[in-house]
Amino acid sequence: MDIIFNRRSVRKYTEQKIEAEKVDRMLRAAMQAPSATNQQPWEFLVIDDKETIVKLADFSPYAKMLPGAPLAMVILEKQGMRAPLFTEQDLGAAVQNLMLQAVEDGLGSVWMGVGRGTERETFLTEMFNLPETVKPFAVLAIGYPADENANKFVDRYDEARVHYNKY
Ligand SMILES: Cc1cc2nc3c(=O)[nH]c(=O)nc-3n(C[C@H](O)[C@H](O)[C@H](O)COP(=O)(O)O)c2cc1C
Repeated sequence: MDIIFNRRSVRKYTEQKIEAEKVDRMLRAAMQAPSATNQQPWEFLVIDDKETIVKLADFSPYAKMLPGAPLAMVILEKQGMRAPLFTEQDLGAAVQNLMLQAVEDGLGSVWMGVGRGTERETFLTEMFNLPETVKPFAVLAIGYPADENANKFVDRYDEARVHYNKY
């Protein structure tokens, strides 16, 4: 699948709005992810209001691309799941699916981590008045890449990381 190899973190976008069908496809791709006991511990906050996106940029010093993005998403981790040890793994798979669908549809995105118990978590919880039933897991900036070739292959294969039969 080319999209896996070509996906890069894209941090510069055109002003073009993202079509509703593409937003829908990204959300559907995310929700197709595998999850422990099929618990599907995700919810998605989709933000296309410019003023809100600009404000969201203050959640982290590494989110300076956000004000230039036409779309942002906050991936939410549902609390009280039956397999709580695995919710972060489930969400990682969902975010990756979403980002790959973005590439498939000509978009670029970047994943920004939140981190449990951090100031970023507090910021997002307060900004969106999130209930105790969900915690922010990641923030994504999404848009049409300013550079058409932004999603391009970088070879990261390292055979030293591969162990056959014994470590
Ligand atoms: C959990 C996680 C947190 C990240 N946090 C940030 C971030 O706060 N800001 C940012 O610009 N990129 C962030 N990134 C993107 C990484 O910098 C990027 O994935 C990495 O450099 C590899 O580049 P690539 O995505 O182009 O392959 C994050 C990625 C992950 C998976």
